[in-house]
Amino acid sequence: MSTPVKVAVTGAAGQIGYSLLFRIASGELLGKDTPVELRLLEIAPALKTLEGVVMELDDCAFPTLAKVEIGDDPNVIFDGASVALLVGARPRSKGMERGDLLEANGAIFTAQGKALNDHAADDIRVTVTGNPANTNALIAMSNAPDIGSERFSALTRLDHNRAVAQLAAKVGAPVSEVTHMTIWGNHSATQYPDLFHARVGGRNAAEAVGDQAWIEDTFIPTVAKRGAAIIEARGSSSAASAASATIDHTRDWLRGSAQGDWVSMAVRSDGSYGVAEGLMSSFPVTTTAGGGHEIVQGLEIDDFSRGKIDASVAELSDERDAVTQLGLIG
Ligand code: NAD
Ligand code: LMR
Repeated sequence: MSTPVKVAVTGAAGQIGYSLLFRIASGELLGKDTPVELRLLEIAPALKTLEGVVMELDDCAFPTLAKVEIGDDPNVIFDGASVALLVGARPRSKGMERGDLLEANGAIFTAQGKALNDHAADDIRVTVTGNPANTNALIAMSNAPDIGSERFSALTRLDHNRAVAQLAAKVGAPVSEVTHMTIWGNHSATQYPDLFHARVGGRNAAEAVGDQAWIEDTFIPTVAKRGAAIIEARGSSSAASAASATIDHTRDWLRGSAQGDWVSMAVRSDGSYGVAEGLMSSFPVTTTAGGGHEIVQGLEIDDFSRGKIDASVAELSDERDAVTQLGLIG
């Protein structure tokens, strides 16, 4: 077998970690032929819990799991990492918006950005799941000047998957028939799930739905507020679906998205679609095996979509101002 790929996961003893680690270890991220070394970061008080999780990983006897390292120092855990899944951060509780976590969680990503800069492998790819994900990714990227900005991304794949599922249920099609879904903007209640470019069974999704009121009053708010609905119902935030989306996002990034389709990823804006350059905003993105990505160009944006995208981008811009004032980015 080849040399194991080092995959770092932060917040490894948390809810998402518990769903995520076993899937990475069993080969669902990098493939069944690629051995994995898991490098798991936690804060010191959670290391004992993490030791228990590692016992369970051992007990699965996954053929692809070559080694597990745990610790509370990002400088050690990120050493040689080719993939970093930054999950560790406090989740919101009932009544909070994800942006309320900026100050509490933002500081985590300055230290981790610096540690990645100094210790990660040259081919590092970073996926940020911990909220507020887009702006945390911006903080990590800004604190890692030696790593190309194209190697940082934030998760909007959970929103993307939610949108696919809601659309499929509405039109009575299998989820596999839904393609070209896009989440624009922030992983927050302002996000814009776009049915005007999505397709179902090859047909334009908005036309297949044929009900603008459903799109505006049901579909968009259901997708955008799904995280809060889960917190309300479960008493804690989404975990298995978030882990699954983190795998989908990072797998497609590393191994290439489906031919002829695209995925939603928050990546550094190059100014496409009028999104201010430098913001970590969700776009329709194609990825190629080996870890490249490109923002899909040339989509027509009507006035309705323009207003929705602008509103979410304005929120991202406010978040950037807030973390600049907090001294988390230069
Ligand atoms: P959790 O509280 O169960 O676990 C978080 C873990 O992170 C804890 O074990 C904690 O000890 C650890 N942690 C805290 N600070 C750390 C640090 N500096 N370094 C390493 N580990 C640290 O939370 P969870 O349910 O696993 O959620 C984790 C994050 O993911 C939250 O911010 C949540 O809001 C977010 N989330 C994002 C999405 C998304 O789609 N982007 C979806 C669901 C949850
Ligand atoms: C989600 O979308 O489920 C997560 O971001 C958790 C949250 O705070 O909504």
